[in-house]
Amino acid sequence: MDNNQSIPPRRIRYKGTHPKTFKDKYKELQPEQYADDVIKVIEQGRTPAGMHRPICVNEIMHFLKVSPGQVGLDATLGYGGHSHEILKCLVPGGLLYATDVDPFELPRTRDRLASLGFGEDVLVVRKMNFSEIDQIASEAGLLNFVLADLGVSSMQIDNPERGFSIKVEGPLDLRLNPKSGKSAAAFLKSVSKHKLETLFKENADEPYYEAIATTIIAKMVSGTVIETTSQLKEIIKEAIDFLPINIRNDEIIKACRRCFQALRIEVNNEFGVLDKFLEKLPLALAEGGRVAILSFHSGEDRRVKKSFQTMLNLGIYSEIAAEPIRPSAKECNANPRASSAKLRWAIRG
Ligand SMILES: C[S@@+](CC[C@H](N)C(=O)[O-])C[C@H]1O[C@@H](n2cnc3c(N)ncnc32)[C@H](O)[C@@H]1O
Repeated sequence: MDNNQSIPPRRIRYKGTHPKTFKDKYKELQPEQYADDVIKVIEQGRTPAGMHRPICVNEIMHFLKVSPGQVGLDATLGYGGHSHEILKCLVPGGLLYATDVDPFELPRTRDRLASLGFGEDVLVVRKMNFSEIDQIASEAGLLNFVLADLGVSSMQIDNPERGFSIKVEGPLDLRLNPKSGKSAAAFLKSVSKHKLETLFKENADEPYYEAIATTIIAKMVSGTVIETTSQLKEIIKEAIDFLPINIRNDEIIKACRRCFQALRIEVNNEFGVLDKFLEKLPLALAEGGRVAILSFHSGEDRRVKKSFQTMLNLGIYSEIAAEPIRPSAKECNANPRASSAKLRWAIRG
């Protein structure tokens, strides 16, 4: 008899009553096998590890008016939550192109959607930057709709290996595509104080930009290694320890969030690629084509708003959202990650 076959596998052990680290959350990471556990996590207003909950789905679907036979683009595939909803409305006869730069999550999402019945006949997945939307249009023809849900997915934020989260120890990477370009740690090694101040100020409205940039540069000059999320957090903490004790801890967390965001925007050239995408977008849309863009901070929203307004004035768009649409209070309660979202839309004239 094969003894190995008769011994059930040991349960993964973790300290305490609930899993805390990403790896311990093995149930959440296997939603097909542990569906009930995953539902419980969602009911508690949390996002299960390895998953992303799509935001403003009803508002987006209401605006895009996707119908069978159309051709469109989900420029930010992520976990595929929006794509899944779109695909359900596109069949029969429609085709969805979907892009993402993440080389790890993209094949997983493609396979997950294929297992839900949306294979290559209805879904064309490309690992590419949405700034190259013109290439999609030259292959697909003019598009009936485009969706872009900017920023990072929950899978990327929660995975310590990616270095996006201030809550967990990990390499200070922050790249959406870790196989290309410089990590945040590598970027810090050669950045000037002026550049660092500018990006903290402009990418994240960081009020303590001077103190933080000065301390980071002084640490680098003295040979301190800044290669992990917690090493950077410690330096930010030290830089603003002049703050009154009653606000210090809160301010440290906020400053860490803002500085990580500023570095993420820099290493992924997020504003540069968004500008290119917005410029090329009208040329990729069919007459009457609809575009919806979900953004998560003021730097993104300003760009979307300005581009839509300029092109409305030029008669390129026939209509744009007068005001951004915000997720409902109910959605923000159920999913706090929705709280900062702003949705803007435009219709090609
Ligand atoms: C907020 S998530 C999208 C979530 C998705 N809507 C869903 O329902 O799962 C943003 C995704 O866009 C990707 N992304 C960000 N910037 C990109 C760019 N310039 N080109 C292509 N993909 C990008 C990220 O890698 C991430 O997977």
